[in-house]
Amino acid sequence: MENTSSQELPKGAHPSFLNVLRAKERVKQNMANVKHKIGVYSAKGGVGKTTVAINLAYALSQKNLRVGLLDADIDCPNVTMFLGIDEKIDPHAPLKLPVKDGVKIASTAMLVDELKKPIIWRGPLITKMLSDFFEHADWGELDYLVLDLSPGTSDAPLTIMQLLDLDGFVIVTTPQKIAGLNSIRSGLMAKRLGVHILGVVENMSSGEPSQSTLDVVAALGTEFLGCIKRDDLFNRLSDSGTVPVLAEKRIKEDFDAFVSRLLGHGVNSNPEARKA
Ligand SMILES: Nc1ncnc2c1ncn2[C@@H]1O[C@H](COP(=O)(O)OP(=O)(O)OP(=O)(O)O)[C@@H](O)[C@H]1O
Ligand SMILES: [Mg+2]
Repeated sequence: MENTSSQELPKGAHPSFLNVLRAKERVKQNMANVKHKIGVYSAKGGVGKTTVAINLAYALSQKNLRVGLLDADIDCPNVTMFLGIDEKIDPHAPLKLPVKDGVKIASTAMLVDELKKPIIWRGPLITKMLSDFFEHADWGELDYLVLDLSPGTSDAPLTIMQLLDLDGFVIVTTPQKIAGLNSIRSGLMAKRLGVHILGVVENMSSGEPSQSTLDVVAALGTEFLGCIKRDDLFNRLSDSGTVPVLAEKRIKEDFDAFVSRLLGHGVNSNPEARKA
C-alpha cells in the first residue's frame, strides 16, 4: 500500500509530516471512487449531527445517488442504534461494509461485541480507527459519503480534516445563542484548517431561521441550507430503528429542501453519477 514514492514528498520534511502525507495518499487511493465527501459537524454536543447525517444520507440515496455513511464518532458511535442494525464486521482488512436500505454503513459499533461497553480510547487509537475506515474499508463507487462527526475540536475532527479531501462541512446548529457560538467556533476551526464550509442547517427549528443561526451564516460567510423542524417523531422513529426521512412526509420535505440547496449551492449534483 506504500505507493507514494519518496520523490513526491517534500525533502527535509519532519518524519511525522511525511507519515501524514503518505497516509493521505493511501486514503486517496482507497477512496478514489468516492466522488463527494461531506462532514456533518458542530463542536457542540446534542445539536443533532447524527440525526442530520443519517437523514441527509438517506435523502441523497432517495435521489438515486450511491451513498455511504461513516459514523466518525469513534468512541461514542450512535449510527447503528439510530438505524436499528446490529451487523458486525470482520476487523481484518479489507473491511466489508453492510448496506442498509441502499446506504453503505461503517461504524465502530460494528467492531465491538457489546454496545453498552464503553469504548475508552486515547487519541492515537481513535486516529488509527478512522484511518482504517478511510484506507481499508470497501467503499467502492459512491456519489456521496456522509460523515457523522463527534462533538468537540479534538482528535477525530482533526484527523478527518487532515486526512480526507472533503468537499466540506455542513454545520449543524440549533436556535440557541450557545449553539450558535459553538457553531462559529467549529466553522472557524475548519476554515483555518482549509476545510470549506458548505453551509449551515438549523435543527430543532421552529421553521424560520433564528437570529443566532443567521449570525453563524454571516460569521462564516457561508450559505443557509435550511431548517429541520423540532419534531418528537425523530425520537420515536429513531428509537425504533426507522429512518425518519423514509417514514414521514413532513420530515422528508425539510430534508429535500436542505438537499436541493446543498446540491445547488455547495456540492454540485452530478447527473452522470446517478445510478441507472
Ligand atoms: N429536529 C429534531 N426534533 C426533535 N428531536 C431531535 C431533532 N433532531 C435530533 N433530535 C433528537 O435529539 C437528540 C440528539 O440528537 P443527535 O444524537 O442526532 O445529536 P448529536 O449532535 O449527534 O449528539 P452528539 O454530540 O452526542 O453526537 C436525539 O435524541 C435525537 O433524536
Ligand atoms: Mg452524534
